[in-house]
Amino acid sequence: MSLFRKKNVEHMLQASAQGAGLKKALGALDLTFLGVGAIIGTGIFVLTGTGAVQAGPALMLSFLIAALACCFAALAYAEFASTIPVAGSIYTYSYATLGELVAWIIGWDLMLEYGLATSAVSVGWSGYLQSLLSGFGIALPTALTAAPGAVPGAFTLFNLPAFLVMMVITALLSIGVRESTRINNIMVGIKVTVVLLVIGVGAFHVTPAKWHPFMPHGWNGVFGAAAVMFFAFIGFDSVSSAAEEVKDPKRDLPVGIIASLIVCAVLYVAVAAVVTGIVPWQQFAGIAHPVSYALQVAGEKWVAGFIDLGAVLGMLTVILVMSYGQTRIIFAMSRDGLLPAKLSKVHPRYATPFFTTWLVGIFFGLIGALVPLNVLAELINIGTLAAFSMVSIAVLVLRRTHPDLPRAFRCPGVPVVPILAVASCLFLMLNLAWITWVAFVAWLVIGLLIYFLYSRHHSHLGRHPHEH
Ligand code: ALA
Repeated sequence: MSLFRKKNVEHMLQASAQGAGLKKALGALDLTFLGVGAIIGTGIFVLTGTGAVQAGPALMLSFLIAALACCFAALAYAEFASTIPVAGSIYTYSYATLGELVAWIIGWDLMLEYGLATSAVSVGWSGYLQSLLSGFGIALPTALTAAPGAVPGAFTLFNLPAFLVMMVITALLSIGVRESTRINNIMVGIKVTVVLLVIGVGAFHVTPAKWHPFMPHGWNGVFGAAAVMFFAFIGFDSVSSAAEEVKDPKRDLPVGIIASLIVCAVLYVAVAAVVTGIVPWQQFAGIAHPVSYALQVAGEKWVAGFIDLGAVLGMLTVILVMSYGQTRIIFAMSRDGLLPAKLSKVHPRYATPFFTTWLVGIFFGLIGALVPLNVLAELINIGTLAAFSMVSIAVLVLRRTHPDLPRAFRCPGVPVVPILAVASCLFLMLNLAWITWVAFVAWLVIGLLIYFLYSRHHSHLGRHPHEH
């Protein structure tokens, strides 16, 4: 039974009430900005190309399907996150409700999500940096521009810009630089402006004939692309990590999450329509900066340059937020004894998990430099979708086991909505490549080995059950 040992929910609520030192200053609009800041990144700027090749112009539908799955998952997620609004992630919440083993699996999945997401976004950043530099006539040696095998027909070895940007962000995080709300708002402004520029200028160059045939690879292509494009929506979960600082979580949290999803879904569908209306979808194969490429093809060189610049700036914040999330999950798991104590050691001067920050920064920096983007994106999606499915199940379990727990936000339509969330997450997972499943299962097996060989015996909860 010790596999299901749980932290005490009431203790956690008390701790959260006592630790209410955090200012409750955020409203629904701030949360929407937070969400959009974390969401818009490599997904729309880069994976749109891969998606277009897979689904054709019907990529617009793929975005809608992915957004719908996210909406269901987000509603369940918001209930879970607002029930126990302690700073931290769903890892902490699941520890109190589903027990240690499930919490471990969710935490392990989130490490895959956030860690690889930093690698993936750094690859996207690299593609746009190179496009920006080429505008000034600067070209890097091909071998250093992408991971081995990432560009068909070219000899590539190491994605140097991707690695370097990770090192810069890691250095900033390790000395305690966090994104401030002001910087986030500026970045959101830049990203949304860039996306609106694509839509506004691009719309004049669309030839609707390019949208026929609309679904060149049928529904298979549409669903496959939806499973990949799910990546473009990842980040909405970061809104709920701010739960403790929200003025009126019951109202603001769901509004913030759903509003950021809707804003992004509308922008994404419009971008998909524009780029596939300018460039025949087949031509996006192997293009690392598809959105600005479409504008280049349209002859709008200046606009394309601005898009490159905006994407390069805007994606920085996604890397920062994801890296931050990653280190804090490892920190929480280590503090609970599930990972070695060294990983939650705080630097005396910078007050950050310095060692962990550099360890994961270098590790995921190398992954970004050496693994092609589409492989990374699929892996991230499968890990995230699995975590979201578990959270949705947790909402159902919690309603039974803790019916009277005060819930700042209640997911509407229980049990239907959480069940739809699980179903849609599983559906998207089934549309990912089999090799992704193999890698995911391998990741889980490694995780379980670590849990049974190490974490179970070192868990603080296991050792001092009454203190938690
Ligand atoms: N949704 C984020 C992006 O597309 C992870 O970069």
